[in-house]
Order: sequence, then C-alpha cells, then structure tokens
Amino acid sequence: MTTFLPQEFLAQISGGISPSARDIQTFIKGIATRDTSPAQIGAFVMAVYLKGLAKGDIVTLTKAVRDSGDVMQWNLDGPVLDKHSTGGVGDNVSLLLGPVIAACGGYVPMISGQGLGHTGGTLDKFSAIPGYNVNADNALFRSTVKDIGCAIIGQTGALAPADKVMYAIRSATASVSSLPLITASILSKKLAEGLDGLVLDIKCGSGAFMDNFDDAKALAKSLIEVANGAGVKTSGLITDMNEPLASAAGNAVEVRNVINHWRGVRDARLHKITVELCAEMLVSGGLASDVGAGRAKVEAVFDNGKAAEVFARMVTALGGPADLMQNPDKYLETAPIITDIKAEKSGIISAMNTRAVGNAVIVMGGGRKKPNDKIDTAVGFDHIAAIGTKINKGDTLARIHARSETQVREAGKMLRDAYRYSDSVSSSDSPLIIERIPANT
Ligand code: URA
Repeated sequence: MTTFLPQEFLAQISGGISPSARDIQTFIKGIATRDTSPAQIGAFVMAVYLKGLAKGDIVTLTKAVRDSGDVMQWNLDGPVLDKHSTGGVGDNVSLLLGPVIAACGGYVPMISGQGLGHTGGTLDKFSAIPGYNVNADNALFRSTVKDIGCAIIGQTGALAPADKVMYAIRSATASVSSLPLITASILSKKLAEGLDGLVLDIKCGSGAFMDNFDDAKALAKSLIEVANGAGVKTSGLITDMNEPLASAAGNAVEVRNVINHWRGVRDARLHKITVELCAEMLVSGGLASDVGAGRAKVEAVFDNGKAAEVFARMVTALGGPADLMQNPDKYLETAPIITDIKAEKSGIISAMNTRAVGNAVIVMGGGRKKPNDKIDTAVGFDHIAAIGTKINKGDTLARIHARSETQVREAGKMLRDAYRYSDSVSSSDSPLIIERIPANT
C-alpha cells in the first residue's frame, strides 16, 4: 500500500482528477485525528468548490463524513424513516410528520438543526416548549424512538463530526454554496441516523435558498442520486416556497399553529405538503402500496387523533409538559405586544418576498444574527395573509407578536413591504408540489 500524501491528493482535486476512494477516506479520517490540517481542509473545500467532484466521489465523501462519527443501528419492528427539508419560512412540517409516520408504524429518529440564514429551524421551535430537551442524550433519544416511534432532537458531537469542522471552514472560505459539499454535508448527518428510507423536501422560491427551479432541481438530483448511491432509498419533492407554508412564522407561534393543526384547524398548504411527504415515506418504508394508499393512512391518523397522541407523548418523553396540548398558553411564551399589521394599499396579493418575512422574525430576535445568539421564542407573525387574498387598505396582513413598539414598526414595515399586489391575480402561479423525483432517478 502506498503512503497517503495529502498534497498529492489535493493536487488531484484541484486538477479535476478523480482520486481513489481510499484517499478520500484517509483525508476525511484525518480530520478527527488531526492528521489533516485546517489549511488542507480549506484547500480541499475550495478545490471542490471550483472544480466540482464526480458523483461516485461525492458518494465516497458522504460515506466517509458519515463514518467520522457514530452511525446509529436499529433493530425495530418497522422501517426507520426520515425527511430532510432544505429550509423555508413557516415550515413546521417536521413537528407533524414525525408523529404521523410513527402513528402509521414507522420510526423517525430525526436529528434537526437551528435556523439557517432567513429560515426557521425545527430545533428552535421545540426550544419554545419549556422542559423539552433538544440536547437529549443518546440513551433517551433511542428509548423515545423505540417506545414512541419518533424523537426530534439536535445534532450531538458524536454525529458526523468531520462535517462540523468542514462546515466552519467552508463558512470562513466562501465555499458553502458548492453542490457536492452541500450534498455531502446534509446527507452525512441524515445517513448517520441509520435509515431505511429518506424523503427530501427541496424548497424553491422566494423563501428558499434556491429561488429558481433549475437550481432546486440540480440540488434535488444531487441529493437523491448520492443518497441512493450510499445505499438509502431516497426520493424527493420539489415544493413551492414563494410564501410561508404555515400562516405563522416564529417559534412559539409555529408550535401553537401545530397544536391547532392537531386539533383540526389546519393551514391547507402545510397540510398538503405534510400529507404528500408522509405518503412518500410510507411507500418508501413499505407501509403503503402506493402514494394514494399512503395519503389515506396519513389522513386517517390525523383525523383519529393517533398522530396527535404520539406528538404529546414525544414531548413528554423528552421533558416537556404532559398537558401542552390541552394548555398551550400555560407553557408557550406570549409576546408583550400582539397587534395587527394593516395594509397601506388595496389589491390582490400576487407575490411575497418570503425571505423578508423570515428576516423580519430574525430582526425581532426570533432567529440569530450571530451563531451563539439566544433566540426570543415569543416573537413572530401569525394570521399571515396568503397569495391570492383580496386586500383593502386597512385590512390585516398579519398579526405581529413583538417585544417592543420599535419591533412593531421595523418588522411590521418589513412584512408590509414583502407583499406585492395586482388587480387580477387570484392565486399563486406555482403549484405546491412542483415536481416528484422518484428514488430510482
Ligand atoms: N445544511 C447543511 O447541513 N449543510 C450545508 O452545507 C447546507 C445546509
């Protein structure tokens, strides 16, 4: 066996030459042992950013990053499934989806993240529930998945640690937006969950990281091909993010929105995407014969209360209050000012700058301006008016939950300015499910 020379390996990457699988593995293994230096990691991510990486090499890279930490193994009586969303605004699907899949016989060990950029994070939403332990240890995480069917917590240091190091260096070297690196980063963490099937929700539109279809499709294809190449059955939906998915954006407000959803007061767009993603997961896990049968199962566990019951049990098992569902206002923080943001124009809402809505939540402290900022879970918006709504001057565009009058003025203006009007448009042009990409793509 020849000795691994990192400089020769880097020369291959920067020359666009495919390296051997063993060299990729040695380079990534060296991140934990410090045999690979930060300068070499920086050179690697920049070379990949500039030259790309062949599909097979991305699969090898993804598996090597996955194997840099613990890879979970399960021995359960149903399929182990998960979903990954590329992020959006008012996207609280995960809070519904995990319990739905568990109520249908699957298991969901979901490791989720904090908000990134203008988007909200599942973990931040759960942090609005007092006592809920987003940093649950491995034993509690595993027992919750096994006994209840799903657990949603944050990333532990033991999961794909090489990704954490590479992500920080990508962030410092302007190489975050490389498709091969994004693919390996997202999938290494998901594949470490020990999944039988994965479904991807690739968002496209003004509130997504990919605002145009071609970029979203390229990301979807890369993720799906690489995940399948790494041995996990993975399909995806490209979905519309040209307006918030739920009618709420923030943290406690989105948890309240989810509790209302369990009670039958449902935002149509949120419900549809959740049903479609869950149906896809049930098919992938062999729990439904086709998407139609999957949809019927999902609707049934929404309607008979079984999924809501799983949600309540998961919250309690992870340290949250046992009566959250009955008494949300006793536990979820309420902002001191709750007031309507009124329209200054009339017309039919034809478009929204959804990113600006996410940024308005961040301006109020509902997301982070710096990595270690503590977030204010109480702030945000609800009753957000949807595209296609006819608005008269003075009508309510949304209700703001704010800490101060200054926030009402600043975030309220951002929200107002996010809306576009026309005389005739009656609904969003974009279908909610833009494209389905099967696992065998
Ligand atoms: N999310 C990740 O986990 N990694 C990326 O590179 C981008 C988004």
